[in-house]
Amino acid sequence: MKKYIIGNWKMNLNVHEASLFAAKLAQTVKVHSDVETVICPGFLALEPVSLQIDHRQMKLGAQNCYWRDEGAFTGEVSARQLCGLAQYVIIGHSERRHIFGEDDRDTRFKVQAALRNGIRPILCVGETADERDAGDTEHVLCDQVASGLMNVASGQLGEVVVAYEPVWAIGSTRPAGTTDVAAATKVIRDEIGRMFGVAAAKTVPILYGGSVGGSNAEEMLSVDNVNGLLVGRSSLIASEFAKMVEIAAEID
Ligand code: PGA
Repeated sequence: MKKYIIGNWKMNLNVHEASLFAAKLAQTVKVHSDVETVICPGFLALEPVSLQIDHRQMKLGAQNCYWRDEGAFTGEVSARQLCGLAQYVIIGHSERRHIFGEDDRDTRFKVQAALRNGIRPILCVGETADERDAGDTEHVLCDQVASGLMNVASGQLGEVVVAYEPVWAIGSTRPAGTTDVAAATKVIRDEIGRMFGVAAAKTVPILYGGSVGGSNAEEMLSVDNVNGLLVGRSSLIASEFAKMVEIAAEID
């Protein structure tokens, strides 16, 4: 399977800064046929960055979408509006779930909306520190995966990407340990296997996210069942991001 290095720029960089940064990435990131490199700027920067980048080098992702295609939903951006601009969309990121109160139903509808509009959803799942301390990690992950993918047809599964992002590891200085990541990503793949069959589950890229950068990318990418990285802060440093792409290209 290809490796995925996906940068989530979050609410950083204005349009001008995003363009400058994309130009810097274009000079720094190398193209590898077995690595899918994706950058996810804020909504406003998608169009200018899209016109600027070579899509063989980097693909574009949005950080969120609304699940209705159109209508009276002031301030929202639909997957349909993103169609033709973004090839990916991050859905159910922990900041959406925990700061903006999105629940499993929103997440499920958004996954549907992305697929319906030909955009690959990156479904984020992960337990909070409290859930982890209570020994609920497995239960939480199964629930989030089962709910997020509930209405996905078998024929659509090939478009889905899942990211394991333990909430306590995001934006911290504390990435998850490789043993925990191995256990969690196995739980996720097994749950997809229960829903769609073991063979189909093997084709779904599962990413790790949470305080990952150039220094720990290799150990994370070496974990069984980890097929890529969803990167926050380190994706805003061109040399770090390029380094992760190189590491992904070198790992079998
Ligand atoms: P971080 O963010 O790499 O800054 O921890 C990860 C994420 O939110 O995807």
